[in-house]
Amino acid sequence: MKSPIEVFSDWAISGKDEGMKENHHKPVMKMIELFENKYENPSIIDAGCGNGWLIRHFDKNKKYTDITGVDGSKQMIAKAKSLDYKNNYICSELALWKPNDKVDVVISMEVMYYFKEPEKIIKHIFKNWIKKNGVFIMGIDFYLENEKCHNWKEKTGVDTMELFSSEIWVKFFEKSGFKNVSKYFFNKTKEWKGTLVIEGFKV
Ligand SMILES: C[S@@+](CC[C@H](N)C(=O)[O-])C[C@H]1O[C@@H](n2cnc3c(N)ncnc32)[C@H](O)[C@@H]1O
Repeated sequence: MKSPIEVFSDWAISGKDEGMKENHHKPVMKMIELFENKYENPSIIDAGCGNGWLIRHFDKNKKYTDITGVDGSKQMIAKAKSLDYKNNYICSELALWKPNDKVDVVISMEVMYYFKEPEKIIKHIFKNWIKKNGVFIMGIDFYLENEKCHNWKEKTGVDTMELFSSEIWVKFFEKSGFKNVSKYFFNKTKEWKGTLVIEGFKV
């Protein structure tokens, strides 16, 4: 078993990271719809940006004032920087990093369950990353109701993957200080419960 950052660094080296855009694109586009009409030219951070495909998507759209991707994998960040010299890519453990200026939107896809105590990182993001009236939108496929994902820990060999119900994830957001917390299930099919998306505002 390896840490999440070690496993994803291996993916960046082998090229397996390239499948993540394909797998995450559809739900992430719906996550963007949740905030894009609420903020004008928002500043944005992608927490656990991987190879930076979403940062490059934001950059193309020209609707954002400041775009930053943060990831703990040196190899992922090196790849992101090799594909885009304009935007900010930072290599850091998310729990230890704080932006110089807080932002309107924090988005994160398939990252938050790689923390032993997700409520701590959610609280850190609430306190140190997000402006007043800003929003945090998190998407995950690995959660209790989505039975198809239950073997992922064994399959990927990642030592830390925490399985919680959607209700517990909502509670993590509420306990961290977020208000008007909502949950959504995007791209549901018969066997796939969909990407669990949690949205919370800092009022
Ligand atoms: C499944 S990938 C998702 C990447 C990207 N969000 C996407 O949708 O393509 C998870 C990413 O989270 C990063 N990660 C996991 N735990 C982390 C931590 N504690 N600090 C920083 N990055 C972390 C990994 O390095 C990896 O790039």
